[in-house]
Amino acid sequence: MHMRKYHRKMASTNYKPRIAVIYISVSGHTAQLALQMAGALEHYGRVEIHEVCSMPVALLREVDILAVGTYTWDSGELPKGMEEVYEDIEQLGRKELVTIAFGTGDRFYPNFCGGVDLLRDMLYVQTTLAAVLKVELAPQPKDKERCTLAAARAIEKWEHLLKKNNCAHA
Ligand SMILES: Cc1cc2nc3c(=O)[nH]c(=O)nc-3n(C[C@H](O)[C@H](O)[C@H](O)COP(=O)(O)O)c2cc1C
Repeated sequence: MHMRKYHRKMASTNYKPRIAVIYISVSGHTAQLALQMAGALEHYGRVEIHEVCSMPVALLREVDILAVGTYTWDSGELPKGMEEVYEDIEQLGRKELVTIAFGTGDRFYPNFCGGVDLLRDMLYVQTTLAAVLKVELAPQPKDKERCTLAAARAIEKWEHLLKKNNCAHA
């Protein structure tokens, strides 16, 4: 099946979502996946992509859709560099922020992509979590389809929230 089929047709509105992908990566796998994720989200609007160490401070308050990517370290833990962003999102108080948790890991370790699980649990509570994507080591071309699905799910959630808010303010 061709990937294009998964793209969601956006509702007719002039407002496009503000989208960002943020990630942390040492050996490049999660960086590659972040690019695939950004490519999938670009179908719906302009996408900013940043490593967490250099992301603009205000970003978390400004975007409508945020994809957060991490590798896993030390028996299923988040890397140190992700901890601050994790806490920032936790304290953000933006349930209307639509999120995707993604990342890479290695099945050699007992807690495969444990860092993504930690992100997922927090994003589920603090934001509107739309999708979770785990990839083993380097992403493959087939993972583009999984990114496309995650992006479509995020847009669906965002449109749903937008409609709900418009009704509430009508
Ligand atoms: C010391 C060490 C511990 C790791 N622990 C885990 C782990 O608990 N679970 C997991 O799924 N992967 C684990 N990994 C694998 C990395 O998360 C995986 O290689 C990942 O793709 C690296 O991402 P990056 O290329 O974006 O840096 C570990 C790797 C190293 C070197």
